[in-house]
Formats: sequence, structure tokens, C-alpha cells
Amino acid sequence: MRYDTPSLERWNSRAYDSSFGYVSTQGAPLVDLLDPRPGERVLDLGCGTGVLTAQIAFRGADVLGIDGSPAMIEKALAQYPGINFIVGDGHDFTVADKYDAVFSNAALHWMSRDPRAVIANVREALMPGGRFVAEMGGAGNCAELTTAMLTAWREYGLREPELPWYFPTPAEYAHRLEQEGFVVRLLEYFDRPTPLDECPGGAADWVRTFAASALEGLPPTSWSPCSGA
Ligand SMILES: C[S@@+](CC[C@H](N)C(=O)[O-])C[C@H]1O[C@@H](n2cnc3c(N)ncnc32)[C@H](O)[C@@H]1O
Repeated sequence: MRYDTPSLERWNSRAYDSSFGYVSTQGAPLVDLLDPRPGERVLDLGCGTGVLTAQIAFRGADVLGIDGSPAMIEKALAQYPGINFIVGDGHDFTVADKYDAVFSNAALHWMSRDPRAVIANVREALMPGGRFVAEMGGAGNCAELTTAMLTAWREYGLREPELPWYFPTPAEYAHRLEQEGFVVRLLEYFDRPTPLDECPGGAADWVRTFAASALEGLPPTSWSPCSGA
């Protein structure tokens, strides 16, 4: 495994579990879909603080969590000392021994630099017949929030921010998967309204946590640090 992209450190791992724990809570049914078996080798790509990695391990699988954020991995290692976690970039990782399954919750849309490379790396990490079970944001995800952000930036006379996500249509992602040699067995595209009840600063906390790169370079008077930090 290699990690050579320090700019991936854009997460507040402490606030993540307290204010944005819904991400892994909503991902729990994905573990059922993965259906990890005792002894299976599973790789959790973009594992964050390791909550779902631990659920996979609890079912008896031999699991490795990879995440681009050293802070997330540090927290995962502290929370789940019996599980293997390493820092690594989805665009640029290799494994010595192949896996039965690659799992990923709410992370692939962050790997926006080169989605083709990410899928190719996943394919390369799998044994023949291995499965890739993942959830990610699709086209139109968080549209109200991103539209509101762009409006606010415009009203403040700021340069339009570059948003960090890759939200493909189902057809586009299926095509990419097939191009890399996967057979698509199930692909669902659905709405998932998400109340921000646990974020004291509501949508502002969401922007600070998930779109922090858009705040870089803004005058400090135009925003304040995350209230959940
Ligand atoms: C919304 S969190 C989801 C974390 C976890 N899967 C969960 O369900 O709670 C997205 C994660 O993707 C990670 N990530 C973003 N870009 C990445 C990349 N290029 N390679 C590996 N991990 C990445 C982030 O550091 C973050 O921990």
C-alpha cells in the first residue's frame, strides 16, 4: 500500500462520529448486503473511523480498513485495536494478497480525481469472482445544499468554489464498472433525505465538514470554525 497524498487530510475525525454518525448508521444495511462470512478477506475502502469495518470484523471476516485521512485512521486504530487499518489513497493502492470482497460506504464520491483508477484498483485487489459492494452519492446528491452554496458564494462576490465530489449517474457508473471488467448484479439509485439533527450548526456544519476545501482562501470574517469541533 502507498500513501502519498497529504491533501486528503480534510476531515475532523473527532466531530465526524458525534455529528455525522448518521453516515455509518445509514451504511449498516450495506454490511448485510455484503454478507461477510467468517474467514473471508474484506477490504473496506474509505473506512473513516472504522465503525462499519468493525461490524464486518464482528461477523468473523478478516478485514483491512484503508482511508486517505491519517486522522481517521488514527481514530479507527484507537477505537478498534484488534483490526488492521492503514492510510492509503483509493487512486493509488495495491495489495499483496487478494480479497474476497471490497466494501465501501459513502467514500467513492470523494475519490473524484480519477474514478477509473479507483475502480481499476478495486478490481485488481479482488480474487476472481470477488465482489464489490459499495454505496456512494449519485447524480443530484445534496443538490439543494450545493445550489445554496453556489448562491452564497455568488452573493458574496466570491469565485465559484470547486466542489470536491464525483456524483455519477447510475448509467455512467455501471459503464465504468463494466469497462473495468465487473459484472453489475445490483445497482440502485434512490433518494435518501438526511436530517442534520445531530449537527448543532445544521447546514453550516455540513459545509464546514464536507466542503471545507471550498472555504479555503475565504476571508476569515465570512465563516467561522465548526461548532461540533
Ligand atoms: C463520509 S466518510 C465515510 C467513512 C466511512 N466509510 C463511514 O461509513 O463512516 C468518507 C471517507 O472517505 C475518505 N476518503 C476520501 N478520499 C479518499 C481517497 N482518495 N482515498 C481513500 N480514502 C478517501 C475520507 O478520508 C473519509 O474518511
